[in-house]
Amino acid sequence: MADVPEDIRSNKRYRDNGDFTIEGLVNRIRSDFGEQSLDIVIHSLANAPEVKKPLLETSRAGYLAALSVSAYSMIAMVSRLGPMMRSGGSLLSLTYMASERVIPGYGGGMSSAKAALESDTRVLAFEAGRKYGLRVNTISAGPYASRAASAIGIIDRMVTYCSVNSPMTDPLTAEEVGVTAAFLSSPLGSGITGTTIYVDKGYHTMGMAVGSLPDTSSPL
Ligand SMILES: NC(=O)c1ccc[n+]([C@@H]2O[C@H](COP(=O)([O-])OP(=O)(O)OC[C@H]3O[C@@H](n4cnc5c(N)ncnc54)[C@H](O)[C@@H]3O)[C@@H](O)[C@H]2O)c1
Repeated sequence: MADVPEDIRSNKRYRDNGDFTIEGLVNRIRSDFGEQSLDIVIHSLANAPEVKKPLLETSRAGYLAALSVSAYSMIAMVSRLGPMMRSGGSLLSLTYMASERVIPGYGGGMSSAKAALESDTRVLAFEAGRKYGLRVNTISAGPYASRAASAIGIIDRMVTYCSVNSPMTDPLTAEEVGVTAAFLSSPLGSGITGTTIYVDKGYHTMGMAVGSLPDTSSPL
């Protein structure tokens, strides 16, 4: 709690919730359920205060906040929750392909944070695998108009663009991401770790935007 900024600590949304840090969570799980009481941990959060700003206009503070909230938090969770997990357990996060390809509008250092998250997935998989017998993976989901994604400001255009240009043209559903998470978190995924799994209707495989050329005789 000593690291929590004063404006967060005194904010009415959080001030009556006790120790809401990851350390506090670990202490509460330990007192409620005992040591090694966890099998599955899912990290599903991201935030960049300057997400609407291009990288070129992002401040150092905004950039570091994006990395801290969206990538370091996974390291903190594996580090603190890993010892609470049974061998064979699974940790999972959610990423986005802006980490590896340019998505104009996904700014404020969010693209950098997702690149860090994917790289850290590989290193954490090695370290947590050797140390605790745990698996660490990340799902690279296609665009979906969640509350957080709506803050980007162009999410509806991103959803439509992917729908038009993907092998599978029906929009991605939250359930499709959820069932992949269930698979990876279960013993069915026991051979998979350190991986970025795409759940994006195949969009990541495309090398050309469909319909980008004026050739109307194309079968596409
Ligand atoms: N929606 C998409 O198009 C999309 C695509 C690929 C990946 N993702 C990823 O999926 C994950 C979940 O996002 P979502 O789109 O489902 O949105 P969401 O709004 O459902 O979830 C975002 C969550 O992040 C939490 N959060 C934000 N800042 C936080 C902070 N400082 N500390 C703790 N929690 C914080 C929010 O409380 C919220 O619960 C994120 O990692 C996101 O980058 C989303």
